[in-house]
Amino acid sequence: MRKKIVAGNWKMNTTLEEGISLASEIKSKVAEIPSVHNKTEIILAPPFTHLYSVKQAIANSNILLSAQNCASETEGAYTGEVSANMLQSCGCDCVIIGHSERRAYYHETSQILLKKIKQALAKDMRIIFCCGEKLEDREAEKHFSVVEKQLQETVGKLSTTDLKQIVLAYEPVWAIGTGVTASKEQAQEMHAFIRKIIADNFGSAIAEETSILYGGSVKPSNAADLFAQPDVDGGLIGGAALQAESFLSIIKAQL
Ligand code: PGA
Repeated sequence: MRKKIVAGNWKMNTTLEEGISLASEIKSKVAEIPSVHNKTEIILAPPFTHLYSVKQAIANSNILLSAQNCASETEGAYTGEVSANMLQSCGCDCVIIGHSERRAYYHETSQILLKKIKQALAKDMRIIFCCGEKLEDREAEKHFSVVEKQLQETVGKLSTTDLKQIVLAYEPVWAIGTGVTASKEQAQEMHAFIRKIIADNFGSAIAEETSILYGGSVKPSNAADLFAQPDVDGGLIGGAALQAESFLSIIKAQL
């Protein structure tokens, strides 16, 4: 059975103090739901500066720690970059790669993203790899071909063994931070399509084992409907992950 996952992407939000207290609050509220870890994996992705401290804050829980990005190079003269090795040394279990904000604002191409994936794999980290079309792609009915290209140029180039480290996240760009969510039908249709791409590349057994998260304006009010879709295995949550209460409601919607 593939894993159900709820991951909180904090983006560039919270001071260190706020981040520690958010993580601590999430940890204590999660501890009140004893069966949660049998059903759902919970991942927090705070900013780089908070990783080590958040790791301490979530110690003795099953909550996992993720970074939001990593460098495409191993080490050396790359001012301002953070390597996969550094992330691992801070206790990161996972890293988000390919988020649409990184693609759009920092010009991260598939070629760069594949290098980042390989860096994270070399450190045995799991990867939440994001894909998703822009509004203009959907309006031009190119959403399937755009997502397929994003996947073929990156995870499509990995080995079957590597793919076991990958969690996919479908995040339509028009739904991120906009308050507009993909309908449950739109989400299911794209998730089934993504699973088929994985099956065609790697076989149906591995496709069945690959978790595919939905991201884009997931809130307590729409999470249960989205998560009930057969190919939606949880969510990558932005805005609603910044308050323990709403993040917890979304986790409960996955149970
Ligand atoms: P959002 O962000 O939930 O604020 O739309 C999701 C994401 O970008 O991962």
